[in-house]
Amino acid sequence: MRKTMTLTLLAGAALFAGQAQGKDQADVRAARTEAQMTDDERFQLLHSVMTLPFPGAKPLPAGVKATVGYLPGIPRLGIPDFYESDGSLGIANSFNARPGDTATALPSGLALAAGFDPAMAQAAGALVGQEARARGFNVLLSGGVNLTRDPRNGRNFEYLGEDPLLAGTLSGAYMRGVQSQGVISTVKHFVLNAQETLRMTVDATIAMSALRESDLLGFQIAIEQGQPGAVMCSYNKLNGTHTCGDRGLLTGVLKTEWKYPGWVMSDWGAVGSQDFFMAGLDQQSGAQLDKQVWFDQPLKQAWQQGRVDKARLGDAVRRILRSSYAVGIDHWAPTPPVDYDAHAQIVEKAAAQGIVLLKNEGDLLPLRGIRSLVVIGGHADLGVLSGGGSSQVTPRGLSTPVAVGGRSKLSGWNNQIYMSSAPVSDLRKALPGVTVDFDSGYVPATAAAYAAHADVAIVFATQWQVEGADGSLTLPEGQDALIAAVAAANPHTIVVLETGNPVKMPWLGAVKGVVEAWYPGQSGGQAIADVLTGKVNPSGRLPMTFPVDDSQLPQAQIAGVGLGNRAEAMAPYNEGADVGYRWFARTNAKPLFPFGYGLSYSRFAYTQLSLVKGPVPRLRFTVTNTGERAGSDVPQAYLTAIGGKPELRLLGFEKVTLQPGESRSVTIEPDRRLLAFWQDGGWSMAGGDYGFAIAASATDLRLSAHTVLPSARFGH
Ligand code: BGC
Repeated sequence: MRKTMTLTLLAGAALFAGQAQGKDQADVRAARTEAQMTDDERFQLLHSVMTLPFPGAKPLPAGVKATVGYLPGIPRLGIPDFYESDGSLGIANSFNARPGDTATALPSGLALAAGFDPAMAQAAGALVGQEARARGFNVLLSGGVNLTRDPRNGRNFEYLGEDPLLAGTLSGAYMRGVQSQGVISTVKHFVLNAQETLRMTVDATIAMSALRESDLLGFQIAIEQGQPGAVMCSYNKLNGTHTCGDRGLLTGVLKTEWKYPGWVMSDWGAVGSQDFFMAGLDQQSGAQLDKQVWFDQPLKQAWQQGRVDKARLGDAVRRILRSSYAVGIDHWAPTPPVDYDAHAQIVEKAAAQGIVLLKNEGDLLPLRGIRSLVVIGGHADLGVLSGGGSSQVTPRGLSTPVAVGGRSKLSGWNNQIYMSSAPVSDLRKALPGVTVDFDSGYVPATAAAYAAHADVAIVFATQWQVEGADGSLTLPEGQDALIAAVAAANPHTIVVLETGNPVKMPWLGAVKGVVEAWYPGQSGGQAIADVLTGKVNPSGRLPMTFPVDDSQLPQAQIAGVGLGNRAEAMAPYNEGADVGYRWFARTNAKPLFPFGYGLSYSRFAYTQLSLVKGPVPRLRFTVTNTGERAGSDVPQAYLTAIGGKPELRLLGFEKVTLQPGESRSVTIEPDRRLLAFWQDGGWSMAGGDYGFAIAASATDLRLSAHTVLPSARFGH
């Protein structure tokens, strides 16, 4: 049934894709329309405003929807109004600006990434695209692909982990899904927006060659695979220049070298002057947030005074129009009503397959043969936690805000939203005949006393993250002490984590099981109960390394922590392209849990690796389910050495679902950029011996092979 829903959605996707126009046709039409425009009309497309009901905001003109980005269209030329909404995790409703507008709430980006499943990412994008369209939003600010360089970055939960291939592939699939519904997707935040602390002023520094091999490669893959209509530049500086005003980055790398045909929009409040336009920024977003609406009068003036390259204005406008035509926002046909029940099934499946089983000593899970269970903490009686900020969705069904940010309109941003799928009630339903009690965990000694009398104790531990602030690796609010107290009282203790990032686990040796559920979205309680009780065999894999503690990270602490609000900080990314698991390999550090890791209730074996000759060798091998249960595995292919020197790079992965005893042959064809270094303006492969492995995680290499490859040089 669920599978049918996903497939139906994808079939719908193809239908809309058919309405969009071919690349060349879109370019021709864009040129034709632009030629008919007055300069005032051209400038009109260069800045969007927020229509949110902020205190003191001007009343909205009749019929204009409240959202983060709006710019009026030009009816005489058939150019529609542009309505932009955040949409990485569902249609956001920041500050509840559209009261009552609830939408399907996806699990966090990390949960989606943990699925290692591009088909699911595409289905999720299509679902959100459909809900956008039903509300009249034709541009989605989705597709966040910033790599996790620091597991304390407060926005990691919106993104897709630490590896450029994984993040780029999934982001591309998500955006394909969005655009299949005739809605433009944006990829963001371009680039190296790797921390939230002082995000408007921080200067992220890195060697450009290393950036090409890491964060830029993630964007490049996402753009190639998703063809998003827009790219959103970021708040931070890159090597001294704000990215939204960085000519080398926007005009050089993105538009000239990668031949990106769409438009560049700024992040909200990221524009410093009208000169950003000359550098390659096409559109100023949420313009009230900047000191001036730079791309209105100041830019017009510069234009009239001949200080703007004549060709630039037409180029910016044509880019916006060509994405509109290529995706088809100018000719929306009526669509069937949204089937929210079908969407609920998809996000429940996404949440379940994103859950990562980290520890299962003595096979305590799945729960069976027990008579009593005590659930402790994490507001598990209310629902499941979600992350805050512009991606926050007001979910369908009840949701409970924990108003740590206060109760005014603006403080909504800082309130923790629990989505109504409550693990306690979902566990009760899944375990008929078992007594399921709940204790808030507020007093560890009380919780431990409850735990002592139950067959199994499950502690739900939460770590809330919000855009605009970074976090820490320590579970907040004394939860480590709570877990330790419960584990001391009950030898059958399991921890379920609802976190936006990895956390330290000082109690790991004392508990039998650990389950990482991330922020699992509107059906999260159900998904967690399904995994704990075995209805779903867990198959999630970590999209980021879980460190033992901060001492293993490239930076001792996040740059700028403790400095004043508008202070400037340097964030040197000296690890270069060795992000995440590559850093751990380079420093020989043993993580708490490695990238790519995750347990199953079944077991999988890999055999018969062969390298199939070609310009880049393909890796062919067999996966077998050697356990007793049907389940899915995610075998991963890595590059392990170049010319005898160790390297570690994910080359490919595949999600494989197998019955007990069943085998499948898998072939992975690596992207040759993943075998190369960026040198002197191009990709270079040194001639020599290349090592490869098939692995169950970045540290569990099971099969290996090597071959000699000739040197090679290629462009983008
Ligand atoms: C965020 C973007 C978001 C925009 C509009 C910014 O603060 O960084 O990701 O799309 O706001 O809400």
